[in-house]
Amino acid sequence: MTDLAVQRKELISTSMNQIKSIIKFKGVNRDALEEVKNIVTSMTGEAEMFGDSAFPTPTPEEIAKIYLLSDEDDGDFSLYLISVLPVGPSPIHDHGTFAVIAGLDGDEENTIYKRLDDGSEDGKASLEVDYKVTLKSGDAIAFMPEDIHRICVVSEKPTRHFHLYGKGFEQQTNRLEFNIKEGTTKSASGSFIPVDESRRVI
Ligand SMILES: [Fe+2]
Repeated sequence: MTDLAVQRKELISTSMNQIKSIIKFKGVNRDALEEVKNIVTSMTGEAEMFGDSAFPTPTPEEIAKIYLLSDEDDGDFSLYLISVLPVGPSPIHDHGTFAVIAGLDGDEENTIYKRLDDGSEDGKASLEVDYKVTLKSGDAIAFMPEDIHRICVVSEKPTRHFHLYGKGFEQQTNRLEFNIKEGTTKSASGSFIPVDESRRVI
């Protein structure tokens, strides 16, 4: 194992242990996620450990690469390195689990939506834009399970961001996509999202 690979393993192991203990003792709430966000943000200071040679940028055909860095056996606490070419925007969606996104490189615009209805009618949702924030290197954002967002790469270069989820994509089976014009929702299970597990760190 190279020195960089050893350092990468140490960083992820230490950071994930801290993150798991915060959630274990405080639960999933905005205060706890703020602390988790600070840890993932500090990981962005080690960008040389997560460069193109270890985690290649997607080809034009691939558009996006989703590298699993670490998770638990049941998919809890899944940490990914995600690189996306300048495309977008994504569909408007939730994750049904908490999420923290932190930027290493490139600019990812996040649009966050406010839900105006009470969610009582299946397949229906009324949304309006709450605010927008562009995540650049060293920036981060945290989402509660019910939070709704859309992402769009707004830099000319690809993004390279950490994405941490309470449950991995494969377990995000109750994920929803939203059609803001129609006021509708549809199921969009994360289990169909292609994940590259070949570069797992721990
Ligand atoms: Fe998302």
